[in-house]
Amino acid sequence: MYSDKVIDHFTNPRNVGVIIDADGVGEKVSASCGDRMKVFLKVVDGVIEDLKFQTYGCGAAIASSSMMSELVIGKTLDEALALTNDAVAEALDGLPDPKLHCSNLAADALHDAIKNYKEEGA
Ligand code: FES
Ligand code: FES
Repeated sequence: MYSDKVIDHFTNPRNVGVIIDADGVGEKVSASCGDRMKVFLKVVDGVIEDLKFQTYGCGAAIASSSMMSELVIGKTLDEALALTNDAVAEALDGLPDPKLHCSNLAADALHDAIKNYKEEGA
């Protein structure tokens, strides 16, 4: 049912945690299932230098967060804003249909954190 990449990122998630002095913090709660994700950003010269996340959710949501973190660390804020939910699911070699909403959490929480960073004017 799950691709090898999903299982890898679920059992060994990258970049789990909190950044205490984060430059931007975002959160997304899934309307479908109530799972939630928090994203913490460290931004230097418009580039995401570090990202940590906390996900209270299913395996697909954790795998999506982990993949999202790998996709955007080292990227500019504009590149990160262009990351779509579909791109996260594709990078995981797909998710089963009932689990597609889980990948939405990752990109949405990321975009919320970037919005927060911009509002703070850090
Ligand atoms: Fe909430 Fe996935 S339904 S854990
Ligand atoms: Fe709801 Fe995965 S985030 S089931």
